[in-house]
Amino acid sequence: MLCKQLTVRLFCLLKISITEMKKITDFIYYVGVNDRHKSLFENMWPLPQGVSYNSYLIVDERTVLIDTVDIAYSDIFFRKLGEALNGRTLDYLVINHMEPDHSGSIGLLRKLYPEVRIVGNKQTFRMLEAYHGLTDGLHEVQEGESLSLGIHSLTFYMAPMVHWPEVMVAYESREGILFSADAFGTFGTVDGGLLDTQLNPDRYWDEMIRYYANIVGKYGSPVQRLLQKLATIDLKMICSTHGPVWQAHRSTAVDVYDRLSRYEGTKGVTIACGTMYGNTEEMADAIADALAANGIRDIVIHDTSKTHLSYILRDVFKYRGLILASATYSGKLMPGIDALLRAIEIREVRNRVFSYCGSFTWSGVIKRQLSAFAETMKWDVVGEPFEEKPAMTDATGAKCRALGEAVAALL
Ligand code: FEO
Repeated sequence: MLCKQLTVRLFCLLKISITEMKKITDFIYYVGVNDRHKSLFENMWPLPQGVSYNSYLIVDERTVLIDTVDIAYSDIFFRKLGEALNGRTLDYLVINHMEPDHSGSIGLLRKLYPEVRIVGNKQTFRMLEAYHGLTDGLHEVQEGESLSLGIHSLTFYMAPMVHWPEVMVAYESREGILFSADAFGTFGTVDGGLLDTQLNPDRYWDEMIRYYANIVGKYGSPVQRLLQKLATIDLKMICSTHGPVWQAHRSTAVDVYDRLSRYEGTKGVTIACGTMYGNTEEMADAIADALAANGIRDIVIHDTSKTHLSYILRDVFKYRGLILASATYSGKLMPGIDALLRAIEIREVRNRVFSYCGSFTWSGVIKRQLSAFAETMKWDVVGEPFEEKPAMTDATGAKCRALGEAVAALL
């Protein structure tokens, strides 16, 4: 560890630049990192395209770092930070969010820059002590309070539960930049370009929805409260802790968050299917055919035994229609369907055009269990849900068609 610290100091002293420093503006450096090693974010959510941990340094009369990175990437992070500081000391660290993917390097930062003052709120400092044992050199801020850096200044807005209770965001008014913590973040590394004008943003929209659905999805009301605060500021750029910097597409990013946090799905249907031998899958396909015949273009059938829950949840948030189709297994729903129900319940998803069907060989439970789920969610059930013996018959086919038509009519 000592060797690593000395190496970092040496890079700073010699001003060796390993890679080109990325800048957001003339005064703001990107010192974040890409993580292509981690398989599961929060040890739960797959990262096929990796993830970035974004950190920004404002260099003014005072120097200010906004958040840090996961401890696993601290060596690259401190090298970049040293290069951007270019021999200057670090005056402030602003902690917008204490989850360890952003706070993991704070303990080491304090050792390398012992004079740094740490900016946060009451909740931040409770967590800072719990994770790092740090209790001194703190600068507490309240809602709407500002910190002058020279020609720049940061104003802080509390954003509790977007995604943890201590979360706040920082707005730099000279440049119109919002440092937004997890809000507007996406899975996926930032390869090459950093601003959305320097890369193809289309790679990120679905991953933004998957990030939201799985990480932030439970907190629609807190996100709405944050969006109301942001409506009063002149927003030119959004620097989230994950994914690209939103500039040209900042309105789209805000619109995505607005729609998702109001649980407003688009015209489409997610069919989540729990099948063992393909009979329930045949029902799902017949329903999808009926939806398509009635004008629905966005239809996705997920096999809950194969597709990771995070992708199914993404589509539950994305589309207004949701149909569950489950075989009966040991007198219960298929395990993947059951896990999906729990995940939807936790996130308190609202206003879905919902229906269901299922199959059984000797004793059916699907209608009872899924009607209880609909009641829990306070969702109306559309059409005539059914459960049938496995083999597809004309009568079952007719029920599938009727259910698809009923759902399509309400989208
Ligand atoms: Fe990216 Fe809630 O941490």
